[in-house]
Amino acid sequence: MDRLPLASSLFPPAVAVRAFRFGADPAAALAQLRALDPRPLPDGLARAVQQRRLDFCAGRYCAREALRACAPALADSSIPIGANREPVWPAGIVGSIAHSCGHAVAAVAAASGVRAIGVDIEPWLDEGAPARLAADLTVAGELAVLAEATGWPPSRLLTLLFSAKETLFKCLFPQVQAYFGFQQARIVGVWPEAGTFTATIETALGPWAAGDSFVGRYQCLDAVVVTSLTLVPGDPEGAAAGNRKGRSWAAAAKPGIRRRRPGPSAG
Ligand SMILES: CC(C)(COP(=O)(O)OP(=O)(O)OC[C@H]1O[C@@H](n2cnc3c(N)ncnc32)[C@H](O)[C@@H]1OP(=O)(O)O)[C@@H](O)C(=O)NCCC(=O)NCCS
Repeated sequence: MDRLPLASSLFPPAVAVRAFRFGADPAAALAQLRALDPRPLPDGLARAVQQRRLDFCAGRYCAREALRACAPALADSSIPIGANREPVWPAGIVGSIAHSCGHAVAAVAAASGVRAIGVDIEPWLDEGAPARLAADLTVAGELAVLAEATGWPPSRLLTLLFSAKETLFKCLFPQVQAYFGFQQARIVGVWPEAGTFTATIETALGPWAAGDSFVGRYQCLDAVVVTSLTLVPGDPEGAAAGNRKGRSWAAAAKPGIRRRRPGPSAG
C-alpha cells in the first residue's frame, strides 16, 4: 500500500491525517491489513463481502495510524461501529473516515482543540452520470450556479458537490444525531484557486440554524476528489449552544473567502 499524497492544506495542524491507496489486488491488501490487526472483525462484518471487509479494515488502519500520530496511547484502541454506522472514537477524540475505490483516509484530533471533522473521498463521475443522480444530490439551481461560476463540467462539479455534502454530513452528525439528506444543504460556492467550498444548511440541524454556512476544503487527485471540513472552537454564536458548534477552520484561515455566492472572478 502507498501513502496518498494529500495536501497539508486540507486540515489544520491539530488534525492528524493518514491516507493510503491499496493497490489492484483486494485479496492481498485485505490479507496485509488483517495481518497488521488480527483482532476479530465486528459482528456482521466477518461475513460481509471482501470489498466491505477491505474498506472497513483500510479505514480503521488509517484511523489507528492517525491516532498513533496525535494520541499514541490510543493507537491500539478499537473503533467500534455506532448505532448509526458512525465510528465510535475513544473518549476525547473526534475524527472521520472515508474509503472508496482502493483509497482510504482517516482524520483525527483531540476534542480539546477541534470540535468536529468530516472527510470524504469519491471517484470522479464520468460525463454519462445520470441526470437522476443530479436530481437526487442537488437542490434547485445549485449545479447551474456553480457551473457558471467555475466553468467546470457538470460531472466534475457533481462529484465535488456529492463529496462535500457527505463530508458535511459526517462532520455534523455527531451533534445532529439524526439523518439529513442531500436536499438539506446547498453548496453555494467553489473556489478552485483556494481549494475551498462553502455549504449552507437549508433547515435547522442540531445546534445549527437554517442558513448557517461552513467552509470546507478539497483536493483533486487523478482518480478521486477528497473533501474535508473541520470545525474549531471559537464561534461566538456557539456560546448559546454551549459552544458546541465551532466555526469552519478554512474560514478562520482565509477570512476574506467566506462569500454567500461565487463572484464573477471565481474560476
Ligand atoms: C454515511 C455516509 C455519508 C457515508 O458515505 P459513503 O460514501 O457511503 O462511504 P465513505 O467511504 O465515504 O464513508 C464511510 C464511513 O463513514 C463513516 N460513517 C458512517 N456513518 C456515519 C455517520 N452517521 N456519521 C459519521 N460518520 C459516519 C464510517 O466510518 C464509514 O466507514 P466504516 O463503515 O468502514 O466505519 C453515506 O452512506 C450516507 O448515508 N449519506 C447520506 C447522508 C448524507 O450524506 N447527507 C448529505 C447531507 S448534506
